[in-house]
Amino acid sequence: MKENIFQKVDIYISNLLAPEDKALTDVIKSLDDANIPQMSVSANHGKFLQILMICCNAKRVLELGTLGGYSTIWMARALPDNGKLITLEVNKSYADVARKNIENAGLTHKVEMKIGKAIDILANLISQNEEPFDFIIIDADKPPYLEYFEYAVKLSHQGTIIVCDNVVREGKILDIKSSDERLIGVQRLNESLKENKNVTATILQTVGVKEHDGMVIAVVNQN
Ligand code: SAH
Ligand code: DHB
Ligand code: MG
Repeated sequence: MKENIFQKVDIYISNLLAPEDKALTDVIKSLDDANIPQMSVSANHGKFLQILMICCNAKRVLELGTLGGYSTIWMARALPDNGKLITLEVNKSYADVARKNIENAGLTHKVEMKIGKAIDILANLISQNEEPFDFIIIDADKPPYLEYFEYAVKLSHQGTIIVCDNVVREGKILDIKSSDERLIGVQRLNESLKENKNVTATILQTVGVKEHDGMVIAVVNQN
């Protein structure tokens, strides 16, 4: 990796305030070993998710997109003893890797993995009157980001924080002529937030050990 100033400072911050223990470095290694792309959030983003969870007193967390369980582990660690995290993953072999990593981190009792397409599982959660979540992170496939966000709002209460990862993509988000379905999906979400009266939202641009990117941070309003 080319070491630029953003990466160096990100490493400085994570060494100080978000050091990875063996359970987390084991996740990174497990992805390499299984030839799974390194798409996990960074250590500092993991810590940032914990801080947002603490801000909304999160006891019930929903994650779309588990991969190897890296962000899952960061978040499950910020849950109280009676807390619960439900994480959705479509890829069975990724889910197997994640299950082992979550077990290795001693967090199996706090994490429920649901295997399948996020859109189907979200529809099921709603039809089964699932209790609302306090914190939701959308980090699965990008084309249906707006649909995911709309489901997330339905599964929320006033004060629920909803985070959506990868909404800047090295500035490619500015390319309104792009035919990349992932970018179009994220553009639809970002633009919808302007008119969405259900949430107060911003987009936080980020640099560091991962590519220049950004996250939607939204809090659900009183309805
Ligand atoms: N949150 C993880 C990274 C997730 S990467 C972390 O930071 O550690 C995106 C994940 O979404 C991948 O594992 C991918 O398999 C999964 N995914 C893609 N399409 C999906 C879908 N339709 N439903 C559920 N998960 C999906
Ligand atoms: C990709 C997906 C992610 O969730 C991420 O954090 C980085 C990259 C991707 O699909 O390329
Ligand atoms: Mg992501």
